[in-house]
Amino acid sequence: MTPDMPKAVITGLGTYVPDRVLTNADLEKMVDTTDEWIMTRTGIRERRILPDDMTTSDMAVEAAAKALDQAGVKPSEIELVLVATVTGDYVFPSTACVVQEKLGLSQAGAFDIGSSCSGFIAALSTGTQFVRTGAFKKVLVIGADAISRLVDYQDRNTCVIFGDGASAVVLEPGTGENGILSCYIKSDGTGCKHLFQPAGGAKQPPTIDSVTQRQHFIKMDGRETFKKAAKAMTQAALEATRLAGLETSDIDIMIPHQANIRIIQAAVQRIGISMDQVSVNIDRYGNTVAASIGLALDESVQTGRIEAGDRVLLVGFGAGLTWGGIMLRWGI
Ligand code: ACO
Repeated sequence: MTPDMPKAVITGLGTYVPDRVLTNADLEKMVDTTDEWIMTRTGIRERRILPDDMTTSDMAVEAAAKALDQAGVKPSEIELVLVATVTGDYVFPSTACVVQEKLGLSQAGAFDIGSSCSGFIAALSTGTQFVRTGAFKKVLVIGADAISRLVDYQDRNTCVIFGDGASAVVLEPGTGENGILSCYIKSDGTGCKHLFQPAGGAKQPPTIDSVTQRQHFIKMDGRETFKKAAKAMTQAALEATRLAGLETSDIDIMIPHQANIRIIQAAVQRIGISMDQVSVNIDRYGNTVAASIGLALDESVQTGRIEAGDRVLLVGFGAGLTWGGIMLRWGI
């Protein structure tokens, strides 16, 4: 990044998860699976599920309100709101516009970013560019997904993995040492069909057949996704570190997208850091898509694992396929 530009600094952080817990024991009653299989193959013990009367924008608003409060920023001061989601309230308009209305972000531009599980990285990188160039001084970045709405609870390959949640940060310019040091974004569109929702878009609009054939639910080639994920997350981690002018030995803590504990372990081994330096909460929330990195970041800050001056590496991987990393120095 150009040194004479300001850095984008996270001045507020907030999260939200629904109260309802779906345990592995609950899933044992729904599909042919076991707690032992799910724990060993994924590291997930339980996940949160959104109630019927809530939607993605409601979770986004809950998380964003906390982030705004922590930053001491009024909704009317926000100039841009970005929502990373693949489970927007509507196909259109954007969930960012719905959030804008609900939060009273009267002066903001608003748009969504659909990079799935690496959406938080893509949105944070986008917000960073606007702050660094001086185009906007107060940007709200949200990662929120009600992925349970797309999960087929008859498909044991996918229903054990996912959970709902939201996380949000406020970005503002800073001229000190703290802030976002690098952003790295990459994708490989040849992997589109490894993880996708076949129907509901322009290619296969909703029909009675598409519904009865369960084509509106997530379809995933788990093995193929798994193979690509560890490699891509490793590349993202190394590139974000290199672009920040740092070595992997400089990483204080890594906050990975929480897709599968075995993917995280494989990536960590390749990067050459220890699991003690990695934030893991997949056991309690599963894969919350665009929310996961923010949820783990917030938890690490709340529990004191991250302190001012720490070099924090965020790494995401998701459908598309998409992946990316952000290196930041924590603190205002
Ligand atoms: N319970 C019991 N058995 C199961 C279950 C389950 N919940 N799910 C699958 N199995 C079976 C399979 O049917 C298969 O049986 P078979 O050999 O008779 O066909 C067997 O277990 C092994 O299947 P694998 O797919 O090889 O199992 P694997 O160890 O790869 O674990 C998993 C599956 C957990 C899905 C893994 O592949 C994975 O995590 N992949 C990555 C998925 C991921 O990260 N997706 C999200 C990406 S982020 C985003 O953008 C949303």
